[in-house]
Amino acid sequence: MRKRRVAVLISGAGSNMAALIDAGLAPEAAFEVVLVVSNIKGAGGLAVAEAKGVAAVAIPHVAFAKDRAAHEQAIDAALKAHDVEMVALAGYMRVLTPWLVGAWRGRMLNIHPSLLPLYPGLDTHARAIAAGDAEAGCTVHGVTEGVDEGPILGQVRVPVLPDDTPSSLAERVKTAEHQLYSRVLHAVCNTLD
Ligand code: GRF
Repeated sequence: MRKRRVAVLISGAGSNMAALIDAGLAPEAAFEVVLVVSNIKGAGGLAVAEAKGVAAVAIPHVAFAKDRAAHEQAIDAALKAHDVEMVALAGYMRVLTPWLVGAWRGRMLNIHPSLLPLYPGLDTHARAIAAGDAEAGCTVHGVTEGVDEGPILGQVRVPVLPDDTPSSLAERVKTAEHQLYSRVLHAVCNTLD
């Protein structure tokens, strides 16, 4: 079966993006990452993608001042220029407008470092520790208009250990994220028309 063409949107280091690129190279993978887009010019993930031979472009939101629509139209144009069929948000730190969400409805996923619906937004690990939770984890969900909402497509749970700090917990969750995202993306791509 033909691999589905995936773009990954990032703002930072892009470790999930790198894991998706690597997973997409497996012969049995239902997807391949063909494009990485960052809204931050010097995002570390851009160089990582290039080193792996994947097209990587910065489309900085600052260049569009407050015109969110124009910024998203530029992103959408890049996705179309690369014949992208599915979009994976991976540490993309901009809230999308309903226009881009609507344009990619059913074809856009996000990964979040908590067991949604617990702890949407930022500082998830600190919040889980402060709450005394015994378990944390990560979620891949379909993207809808609400931040970190949308149908939950997969989760992985990890223990919260007694001496965890937000960064030690983040590291454990991140390892789980790298497994979960490619598994869910593979499954979703297998269901596309
Ligand atoms: C991940 O924890 C992801 O769940 C969240 O942002 C972080 C991105 O990390 N949305 P990386 O850039 O993939 O390393």
